[in-house]
Amino acid sequence: MNILLIGSGGREHALAKGLKQSASCDLLCALPGNPGILTLAQKVTDCSLNDPNTIISFCKRNAIELVVIGPEAPLVKGLADMLTDKGISVFGPSALAARIESSKSFSKELMISHNIPTARYTTFTGDQAQLAHDYIEQSEIPIVIKADGLAAGKGVIVAESKQEAHDAINDIFSGLFADAGSKIVIEEFLQGEEASVFAICDGENFVMLAPAQDHKRIYDNDVGKNTGGMGAYAPAPIVTDEVLQKVADTIFTPTLKAMKEAGYPFIGCLFCGLMIENGNPSVIEFNCRFGDPETQAVLTVFEGDLAALLYSAANGSIQAEHMKQRSKGFACNIVLASKGYPDHYETGYKIYGTENINPNQQITIYHAGTSQDVDNNIITSGGRVLGVCAHAETLSEAIQKAYKSIEHISFQGMYFRKDIGKKGLAVTN
Ligand code: AMP
Ligand code: GLY
Repeated sequence: MNILLIGSGGREHALAKGLKQSASCDLLCALPGNPGILTLAQKVTDCSLNDPNTIISFCKRNAIELVVIGPEAPLVKGLADMLTDKGISVFGPSALAARIESSKSFSKELMISHNIPTARYTTFTGDQAQLAHDYIEQSEIPIVIKADGLAAGKGVIVAESKQEAHDAINDIFSGLFADAGSKIVIEEFLQGEEASVFAICDGENFVMLAPAQDHKRIYDNDVGKNTGGMGAYAPAPIVTDEVLQKVADTIFTPTLKAMKEAGYPFIGCLFCGLMIENGNPSVIEFNCRFGDPETQAVLTVFEGDLAALLYSAANGSIQAEHMKQRSKGFACNIVLASKGYPDHYETGYKIYGTENINPNQQITIYHAGTSQDVDNNIITSGGRVLGVCAHAETLSEAIQKAYKSIEHISFQGMYFRKDIGKKGLAVTN
């Protein structure tokens, strides 16, 4: 099968590796890709992400049988709809289904009206700012304030004081997140431990991949600002088989049923961010795509034909047998970031040492924010630069191997967390 992969981050590098390794994959092309992805896939040069017609004609000319869309932005804009309308199979939801990520009020309403476990909430529009402030006065703290729309993971404030909550409301309504903040969701604070579970969905049925745990805060011990994610491991022992079954029965099954009945079936990767307390999962958020950096770990432990699995889902009849094993061993993926991320950071620094990593030792360096300079050196070009992902029989070995490999790599201002996976070890010990 000929496949086109859309995206340019660490998540897409992991997808590229998984697709390329699939027995059913003949040709893999990437738009726009990154220097890591382009070691595995052919670069598409005559297409623009901003012009879906160029993508459609590329797919027709190259007999592309499956398009896999990595990031949320093109999904929310309706790229999957445009390609599907032309008879091209797409792994990724329609714009209507992608609202499960792009509108927090939409996804909360869907959950509450179908008894899917999630925090209680209310919404306020910009002209109801005073009501929102009054609501805070009557609420318990901590309380969680969220911009309704897409805000690159930054639109959520867990307010520890009423003043912080009032400030968050003012910030959002004064345009800090542009249009994403025209409405806010205020929700109850959930206690527990977080995990991410991805379901490959065909609109009705689904296959869950290995549960993972992300590390969202910038500093060790979950301190500091929220980021896109500083590292992840899989499988996460906090998600026992029993918890995973509850996630299937109380979350994915009713969500897919509700979306199908409403006329916008979800086809693609449904990402469920969970809070687990006493073995009971509740939904913190849904995303309409694979997570980053969780995918790097989740696909490392996946055994099977990823391309065939995604193709079957894209065509409305998922074939679960393409996943031979949900998790073979453990993977730990540590993000190497630019100094200053998630705020201002500098780019353009040469990256040293990746060539010293031996892939035979089950270490993969995933490119996230990298590019190539005129002399073909790999340089930093983003906040999250690389993911160093190790695979081993135990979680403890995977963590050790990943950290050992980082010793070979350097770039100016390189920063990483030192405690990725520690919470997983605490559960297993
Ligand atoms: P989100 O973008 O909705 O996943 O939120 C970002 C982070 O904020 C989550 O990973 C949680 O750590 C935290 N968070 C969001 N909603 C809640 C909640 N209702 N209770 C506790 N923490 C939350
Ligand atoms: N790692 C969280 C996300 O992809 O949204």
